[in-house]
Amino acid sequence: MISNEISTAIQLLKEEQLVAIPTETVYGLAGNIYSEKAVNAIFELKKRPHFNPLIAHFHHINQLDNLAKEIPDNAYKLAAKFWPGSLTLVLKKQNSIPDLITAGKNTVAVRIPNHPLTLKLLENLDFPLAAPSANPFGSISPTHPQHVHDYFGDQLPYILDGGACTNGIESTIIGFENNTPIIYRLGALSVEEIENEIGAVRIMNHNENNPNAPGMLSKHYAPKTRTILTDQMELAILEHQGKKIGIITFNQFINSPHVIHCETLSKIGDFKEATSNLYSAMHRLDRMNLEVIIIEKLPNYNLGKSINDRLERASKR
Ligand code: TXA
Ligand code: MG
Repeated sequence: MISNEISTAIQLLKEEQLVAIPTETVYGLAGNIYSEKAVNAIFELKKRPHFNPLIAHFHHINQLDNLAKEIPDNAYKLAAKFWPGSLTLVLKKQNSIPDLITAGKNTVAVRIPNHPLTLKLLENLDFPLAAPSANPFGSISPTHPQHVHDYFGDQLPYILDGGACTNGIESTIIGFENNTPIIYRLGALSVEEIENEIGAVRIMNHNENNPNAPGMLSKHYAPKTRTILTDQMELAILEHQGKKIGIITFNQFINSPHVIHCETLSKIGDFKEATSNLYSAMHRLDRMNLEVIIIEKLPNYNLGKSINDRLERASKR
């Protein structure tokens, strides 16, 4: 069921069931972090490997000390500036945090999301919500209630309808190694915005053997249709002519006899608009029975950098 009524969501979550929740980044598949039953159900429904930890969502900075300890000054600084918002902090966990959500690590990922319905929901619960993106493991994250419904149908009792997600890609994840901040996952908050607050930060170079970033597998966020990333769109189209081609461009519209459908992310070349449209465009093209989706690389700074990171994973074979 898809509805904007929070009382049903409150009741289901208290009964240790799962509810899809809107956030400003993407929809989450939420359950009580302290319920083994609910957290196991999240992993099962997503078909997510247990080595991949979950983010705990809560609503007020006062609760942070219940979740994490030995919090670096820069973490407080970022939290004060960006919460509620698209920032996830990886911090030393409190003993009360179940190993199931942290995959046995001594850190926990936490975030206050910026969506009025979900903040209201969290205020009415006396536990935080574990919520990975509401998609099967490895596929495109949902930015609309209908995307969640298309993935899980009746397997999920309730989708809290908060409309389309305004930011449209996942939160930026920052951890600390010996108090030095490090970006584990690029996301809806740009590196530039973060560096404005706390100075230069390192971006972790992910590879699949990196134990600090279990979720950052190289292939992820992927459409079912074969997907190619290019900085030479016209050439890539010619190389695939004769196939059923769909394309996604940053700001240009390409009218080509070889292309069945073109999605332009932002006609005015605005990074925020492009980010908010990205996953919807990918979902739409993935439903069109195409043979190949060709996506144009964005300029590699600001949110363009975050989008390129997702697209590199989406196009990995
Ligand atoms: O925007 C978002 O962050 C969304 C919304 C629903 O809040 N959530 C989301 O969750 O993207 P998920 O589970 O799809 O991605 C969380 C990422 C995973 O890659 C996971 O490996 C990483 O966070 N993560 C969680 N706990 C961690 C930890 N203790 N150390 C390092 N990485 C962690
Ligand atoms: Mg995810």
